[in-house]
Amino acid sequence: MAMDSNLIKTVNKLQDAFTAVGVANPIDLPQIAVIGSQSSGKSSVLENIVGRDFLPRGTGIVTRRPLVLQLINRPSASGKAGGVAGAQPDAAPAPVSEEAKPIKAEGETEHFEPAEGEEWGEFLHLPGKKFTDFNEIRAEIDRETEAKVGRNAGVSAQAINLRIFSPNVLTLTLVDLPGLTKVPVGDQPKDIEKQIRDMILKYITKNNAIILAVTAANTDLANSDGLKMAREVDPEGVRTIGVLTKVDLMDQGTDVVDILAGRVIPLRLGYVPVVNRGQRDIETKKKISAALEAERNYFENHAAYKSKAQYCGTPFLARKLNMILMHHIRNTLPEIKAKIQAGLAKYTAELMQLGDPITEDSSNQSNLILNIITEFTNEYRTIIDGTSNEISS
Ligand code: GDP
Ligand code: NA
Ligand code: MG
Repeated sequence: MAMDSNLIKTVNKLQDAFTAVGVANPIDLPQIAVIGSQSSGKSSVLENIVGRDFLPRGTGIVTRRPLVLQLINRPSASGKAGGVAGAQPDAAPAPVSEEAKPIKAEGETEHFEPAEGEEWGEFLHLPGKKFTDFNEIRAEIDRETEAKVGRNAGVSAQAINLRIFSPNVLTLTLVDLPGLTKVPVGDQPKDIEKQIRDMILKYITKNNAIILAVTAANTDLANSDGLKMAREVDPEGVRTIGVLTKVDLMDQGTDVVDILAGRVIPLRLGYVPVVNRGQRDIETKKKISAALEAERNYFENHAAYKSKAQYCGTPFLARKLNMILMHHIRNTLPEIKAKIQAGLAKYTAELMQLGDPITEDSSNQSNLILNIITEFTNEYRTIIDGTSNEISS
């Protein structure tokens, strides 16, 4: 629904504005935080959701700064609906119930290769520069990570903000976080585990964060680092989604059916099993479109999953996340509104006290925030009251 995706876009703008001026985010914007142990498949899940290879990978801690990934759906100029994007439900999101309903994929089409220029990335720290080559996006993430934390294995809580515009994505904001490690290796700081835990906690403690807890299906769910951390901040399991990766690597005769049915560690938002590319697929440069196809075939033809194949796989996960996010933003609007109004009053007062601009920079920054808050508040009023009012304070 257009209004909903505008809402997410406005939330994204606010996020950028506060990051740009270095203000610790005064508004707890809803985000989906991806957590799990190293090599559980977090990057693979994100790449599959985006449908492109663009994340740095390798052994050790590859993700060393949070990556705030804003996916923005843009219809294809050719008029073709994107794979997942074409499935964007046109109705108000239904309440998310105990059991995830399959989201009706009206007009859903295959993932397709968008025409040149229809898909690109932009970094907040490089305004105006369009990255159409996704290998360059990966290189830039690496470069920007090293610029902040050096070549050693240090980590930083300062996020990198990347927007991806594509006809193949649903509008979503995801945060990729460093994987949980147990033992420092090489020149990693001694307290690396604590640093990473603290960083993850910062993102998932907020009540309006949605936690995407990634666990490899060929490991014991009870030992899942992601689920354990999620439980610390969401003991009732009301804002945690379980993602089970590596379903294809499970021992013959075993499956995740009991987990999906909520008989192992129940989560209100449920679990979604996925099959990502294996290391060999990555080495042989298997395309993501081929991987998504293989994933669908896997679930549709597997004896344990074929009756529920519509609840399995990456496209279902992406639609589910989009719906949860919109539902969540709507639920948190009253709280966001109160915070914005408090923030607006504070910034207005600060602006008045500034008198003459001290430097051009500081006044620009304040204006930027004010403009965006005003825009957001108007957007919010449009949705709630059906009217658009100027802020008068
Ligand atoms: P991260 O450290 O959590 O970001 O994990 P990665 O996404 O980098 O994945 C770690 C390794 O597991 C890579 O070699 C992936 O190819 C592999 N992998 C991830 N998901 C799957 C899956 O569903 N099936 C298979 N066979 N391999 C996977
Ligand atoms: Na995990
Ligand atoms: Mg990774």
